[in-house]
Amino acid sequence: MKYIPTFIFLILFSLTAPAEDIKTYDDGKSWTLFSGVSAYNIRVRDNAPAELYHFGTAARDFSLQDKAVGPELPVRGGHYVCRPVAEVVFNDGVRDLELEFVKYEIDRTGEYPVLVLVHKDIHYPLEIIEYIKVIDDYGLYEKRTEIRNTGKKHDVVIENLQSGNFYLPKDQYEMYSLTGHWGDEFQPSVTLLTPGVKSVEVKNFRSFGSSFFAVRPEGETSRTSGKVWFGTLKYSGNWRMDFEKFTTGEVQVASGINFWDQSMTLKPGESFVSPEWVFGYTENGMDGVTGSLTGYTRDKIVHPSHRGQVRPVLYNSWYATEFDVNEEQQLELAGIAKDLGVEIFVIDDGWFKGRFNDNGGLGDWTVDRTKFPDGLSPLIRKINEMGMDFGIWIEPEMVNENSDLYRAHPDWVLHYPTRTRHTYRNQLMLNLAREDVYQYLYRSISALLKEYNIKYVKWDFNRGISEPGWPDAGKDSQRTVRIRYVQNLYRLYDALRAEFPDVWFENCASGGGRVDLGLISKTDFCWASDNTDPVDRTFIQYSYLGAFPANTMISWVTFEDHHRQGHPIDFKFDVALCGVLGIGYDITEWTDEEKTVAAGKVALYKEIRETVHNGEQYLLVSPYLSDRSALQFVSRDGKESVVFVYNLAEDLQNSSPETRSSPLITLKGLDPDADYRIDGIEGIHSGASLLNYGVEFPVYGAYKSGIFKIHRI
Ligand code: DGJ
Repeated sequence: MKYIPTFIFLILFSLTAPAEDIKTYDDGKSWTLFSGVSAYNIRVRDNAPAELYHFGTAARDFSLQDKAVGPELPVRGGHYVCRPVAEVVFNDGVRDLELEFVKYEIDRTGEYPVLVLVHKDIHYPLEIIEYIKVIDDYGLYEKRTEIRNTGKKHDVVIENLQSGNFYLPKDQYEMYSLTGHWGDEFQPSVTLLTPGVKSVEVKNFRSFGSSFFAVRPEGETSRTSGKVWFGTLKYSGNWRMDFEKFTTGEVQVASGINFWDQSMTLKPGESFVSPEWVFGYTENGMDGVTGSLTGYTRDKIVHPSHRGQVRPVLYNSWYATEFDVNEEQQLELAGIAKDLGVEIFVIDDGWFKGRFNDNGGLGDWTVDRTKFPDGLSPLIRKINEMGMDFGIWIEPEMVNENSDLYRAHPDWVLHYPTRTRHTYRNQLMLNLAREDVYQYLYRSISALLKEYNIKYVKWDFNRGISEPGWPDAGKDSQRTVRIRYVQNLYRLYDALRAEFPDVWFENCASGGGRVDLGLISKTDFCWASDNTDPVDRTFIQYSYLGAFPANTMISWVTFEDHHRQGHPIDFKFDVALCGVLGIGYDITEWTDEEKTVAAGKVALYKEIRETVHNGEQYLLVSPYLSDRSALQFVSRDGKESVVFVYNLAEDLQNSSPETRSSPLITLKGLDPDADYRIDGIEGIHSGASLLNYGVEFPVYGAYKSGIFKIHRI
């Protein structure tokens, strides 16, 4: 490997994981953090910077490990051996950091313990503080890093600050991540990590995949077993993750804000803290990854306002009426939606001033009086009288040139005076880093939510950054614009959510263009894709649910049929029922029979949503590897389970009977010693049999689906 420590350092480490989450050894300079089945062992030699000795199974003898695998806090400075987590420039032009260990602390004031490691530069007044939270019950750690300018005279420029890094022992590894583009989000990608660097990064604020990753020994890990190191970043701007395979075989994994074309100047006394990077280690294959990350996100990250509550059934009128909205036609849709069992009626794009197509209106967040002469109150009142809540669409971060806002404040968008202001979907991006833009958006949205009884906000974001200039900020501060933008985006959400705690917030970015733990922590759920074709969705949702919980994934039933199969609506509903159900059809065109099917599916959603939204989720059969897909959810008390089966071909896998895979599906998360009843399948099934032998679900033929409720007896 590239980093070779020049000392031998022996401490007697215990053979088995002690009960404590953070063990400090007698020298006061060595720690093992225990989380789930993993141990993370850090040591300080003299006052040299901390080094990582082991991250992986807790079932090992740390005393055998006398060589570090890499610096815990690699910086630009000294021998440049690893990817630096911190890179700064001092006032006199020195670009190297040279750190020494100062002290540690274990902070137990929060829900989880945090090991705080303080380092300082040997010459300049600067501290780097690393925070490592141990989230033992989910087998996770959360790292963030802070740089403090402790001087009194000079500025320090941060050119890079990653949230953290770790190292994997010598081996052949493959890296799984989620990539994609609009309409084809969250597609799995697996790559062999060969010597060199594999980077995944976002440069324009939009990802369509996510910062989720999983690294595993090549070919050894399955869905149900094997070692995996995995994680994701809690950040919504430009981010990056880097996997550097050294020629000696070890791998460094680092992640954080993408500092490409960004920097941050710290004045004396100022500090900058990176976003949190959540990561972990499991020996239960990709199931272990899904269980840890989705459980943690569902229980601890999703915005607390509605955390733990089942998600409502939505109707959204976008596909039915697009920009051409009025009270009469929305009420007609609402009347039918109510009969179907819908709980929140959402009017999408098109309701605000000057919004007749995507060429105008964005920025002016008041009601268009030509469409709603009496405002929205009469519509909302009637919808409320029908027993439904009312929701609305906004895209606050954008502006059309054809808007009052842009005419008044053309300087409020990201721009360079000498460069073309490139539009996308006829819109420009407001510079939310500006305080006046922040205040305007806060005032406009807050006024809207105060004036009207709005209980749901769909917050859209339909373009990426271009021309990231901020002329008023001056040359030195301009490069902070993306970072400050994201800070103000979070601040805006925080202010609105504090003021309107009972309003649901949807994170939409065209398709799933901005799904990450950062925005999940500010909202209740995400729009995963503009692609609502049920077959395409089966793939997108399978991958999404491997990394994110079902209660964050909105899924609509619409007319889209990309494969020209003429799917009946029951198949479409079954696909949408494994997330947060929305209906996006022009339901005025539905036959009575379709309305009956839809009402039945909405009723089924209400029966199973406690298990789907708040239970443990499992991927059973991958559509990427077979001709069907299957998912399972198990309630927290283990009494109920729901299995979703989607057939995508006439015969299951391959063309002839002798090569077809078994029709049996083995289940997960059940008690092997308990007995179960499955609705729609005769008999009593032992947990052991369902877990090991499996069960044949009666779903036959292409584009057929089934939702099976399983009850512990
Ligand atoms: C993109 C979203 O994904 C759609 O659902 C819809 O809200 C449109 N924007 C409206 O402009």
